[in-house]
Formats: sequence, structure tokens, C-alpha cells
Amino acid sequence: MRVLVIGSGAREHALCVALQSDPAVTALACAPGNAGTRSIAEAVPLDGADPVAVAALATSWGADLVVIGPEVPLVAGAADAVREAGIACFGPSAQAAQIEGSKSFAKHVMTAAGVPTARAWPVGGPAELETALDEAAALVPGAPYVVKDDGLAAGKGVVVTTSREEAVAHGHRVLEAGGAVLVEEYLDGPEVSLFAVTDGTTVLPLVPAQDHKRRDDGDAGPNTGGMGAYAPLPWAPSGLVDEVLATVLQPTVDEMARRGESFSGLLYAGLALTSRGIRVVEFNARFGDPETQVVLPLLETPLGGLLHAAATGALADHPPLRWRSGAAVTVVVAAAGYPERPRTGDPVTGADGEGVLHAGTAADADGTVRSAGGRVLAVTATGADLAAARQTAYERVAGVRLAGAHWRTDIALAAVEGRITL
Ligand code: AMP
Ligand code: GLY
Repeated sequence: MRVLVIGSGAREHALCVALQSDPAVTALACAPGNAGTRSIAEAVPLDGADPVAVAALATSWGADLVVIGPEVPLVAGAADAVREAGIACFGPSAQAAQIEGSKSFAKHVMTAAGVPTARAWPVGGPAELETALDEAAALVPGAPYVVKDDGLAAGKGVVVTTSREEAVAHGHRVLEAGGAVLVEEYLDGPEVSLFAVTDGTTVLPLVPAQDHKRRDDGDAGPNTGGMGAYAPLPWAPSGLVDEVLATVLQPTVDEMARRGESFSGLLYAGLALTSRGIRVVEFNARFGDPETQVVLPLLETPLGGLLHAAATGALADHPPLRWRSGAAVTVVVAAAGYPERPRTGDPVTGADGEGVLHAGTAADADGTVRSAGGRVLAVTATGADLAAARQTAYERVAGVRLAGAHWRTDIALAAVEGRITL
């Protein structure tokens, strides 16, 4: 099976590592890829990610399966175009990807499916913003305000703040940029990312992981695309995956099918385990980054066969997933200035070390690796338990050099120290 992965982040590097170890995968390419993917997958150029270009590349490269990593090509219809070209594609249609592309669409689906989520107030203008903030404050007195950009914002469109002024300013910024705004009920409790592979009918959940969204140690600083992750979650209640499958994942997939917008691909449930029960924070329509970097190393089932089964409606016949024991930790090494204004073009050394997944990197003609994005590397390790995986991951971080780089030093620490409570 010839597999073409679309994207250029650490998620795609992790997908390539897992696909490469599947004996059924006879050829592997990543477009456009980065300086890391090119060491294990053929680098094929891809200009932008418009659906026509993706489908043309899939055809000319002779792909049997296309795996689309990021949300932007999915929302633009890349999976539809690949399927129209007669090639199996892992990833939802443009319509189904609206579950990530539009937070208000996701809310409609959840309401229809009876899936628990935060209450939300759509905001059309500045006056409605004030009313929505008043109503949110009345619902959970003393809780922070949650103000969201309704569209795709790479994880950076949300402000959670106790400052009314900051909440109003964020809302105005999004409205002035022509976007739509949602004010939401505040969800307390630890967050869980649970991925499920689905063909639109059958749903196979993966192991739960936890992301660290804030830039700095102790969950301080601004929201980012994700600064590190670990899996599994030693503190998660037993039965969590079954409960999320029964109350969130399956009802959502069924509701999408009922609407004629069948969702196949990776359904990512971002959850909060609140004092009032499980709530969906958001859905994504693709593998999460950085959680993929810790979930895939634990998956023993060959990835190519699994994704192909999902892409061809054959998941009901797929054997149950097998998992390795132990744990995985990934630490994101970010460029100076990330997330506001990442500096690029700095040389990176030590990036060919074991477990070092590339995110925003590019190689010069002479092989020098340079930073080419905000999140530059995702340094990953597995171990017998979370403490061991964490220690190895940070030893590997110490082997990397990038001027001005920053990373969190507390990835998975609260879990290792037993400080996460429900
Ligand atoms: P989102 O883009 O919706 O995933 O939001 C990014 C992050 O903002 C989430 O992972 C949470 O940490 C935080 N967040 C989003 N919505 C809420 C909410 N309703 N209550 C509390 N925190 C939230
Ligand atoms: N880990 C957050 C995301 O992939 O959106």
C-alpha cells in the first residue's frame, strides 16, 4: 500500500514513523513534509493545500491511501477531492469537518445528539457581547469569562480570563476582523483529549492523552497550539473511555450520519472532566498535535491498515486495537517569540536524535536544519511508566540546540506527582 501523508508538522512526522513500521505500507511520502519527515518518507512538494493540488498529487504519486493531517485542507475539501479522484482518503469531507471549522455548527450537532457541552451564547455584535458576558457571569458566579473566535484559529482563538476588560477586548478584536464570537460557560476540571478512528458508523477510541495548552510552566501565559502531552492518564477514572464512547463519540458520529454529513476520519473530543460531569470543550476533525506524538507510539496495531479500514468503511471488520504497556511524553521546543511572533531561520542542532520529531523545520541545501515555524520540535520518549518516559524526554531535550528556544519543564509532572484530582 502506497501512503501519502499531507502536512508538515510533528503530528505528520509521528504519523510517518508509525506508518513506516506497518509492513503493509510499501511506500510512504509526506507533502510538503519537513526536515524530519524526509528522513523516513519521500519528500514531495505541495504548493499550498488546495483540494485540487492535493488530489492531483495523490493521483500522480500513485497513492492507495491519503492521510490528511491538518484541519485547513480538510475544511477546504481536500478529502472530497481525493475521494472524487477514486483514491481512499483518511479524513472527513469539508461538510463534516465543520465540526471543527465552526464552533456553532459543532454546538448544533451536540445539541441534536444530546452530547454534554458548555452552554454557549453566539454574539453578532458589540451590544450582544455585553449581554452574553452578563448571562455567562450569572450562570456560574465568580467563574472566568470564556470568549471564542467561532472559526479556525489554530488553538489561539480562545481567551479565558477573569478580566471583563480583556474578555470584551478579545470579542471586539474578533468581530472587527470580521469573525463571529461565542461566549461560553466556564468548564472547571482537568482536560482530556480522546481520539477516535471512525468510518462514519463504527467508532474505535484510542488511549486518552492530555495536552498542555498554555505557554509556561504551571499553566501560565497565553494559549498555544500545545506545548507538550502525555499518555495514558494514570488519574483518569476507569470506564472513562467507555463513557465517552457511549455519551459523546458514538452519538456524534450517528448524528452526523443522520444529517447526511457522515464523519469518517479522526474525531478528536476535547473534554473537561468537570464537577458536573464530562463536557465537550471542542471537537477537532483530525489528529491532535502534540497528543498524536504520545498516542501513536503506544499503538501496537499497524496504523496503515487501521486508517485504510476507516477510509474504506471497513472498520466493523477490523480487529480490536492492541496497545503497548508503558507511557509516552512529548515536550514541544518552541521558537523565540512563540506564540505571538515566532522567530524563524535559526539553526537547530541535535534534531536527528532519537525521539526528536520535527514540527516547524526546513533543511538548507547543505543539510543545515533551521527553524521554520513556532513549534519547532516535539521531543518524545516512551518508558515503563510516566516518570520514566518524562525523564527520557527531558534528557533528549537537553541534546537539542536552538537559539532563543523555550519549552515547558513540567510536562506530565502533575500526573507523575499525583496532583491531578477529580
Ligand atoms: P478550544 O479552541 O475551544 O479548544 O479552546 C482552547 C482551550 O481553551 C481549551 O483547551 C481550554 O483550555 C480552554 N477553554 C475553552 N473553552 C473553555 C470553557 N468553556 N471553559 C474553560 N476553559 C475553556
Ligand atoms: N492539541 C490541540 C490541537 O491539536 O488542537
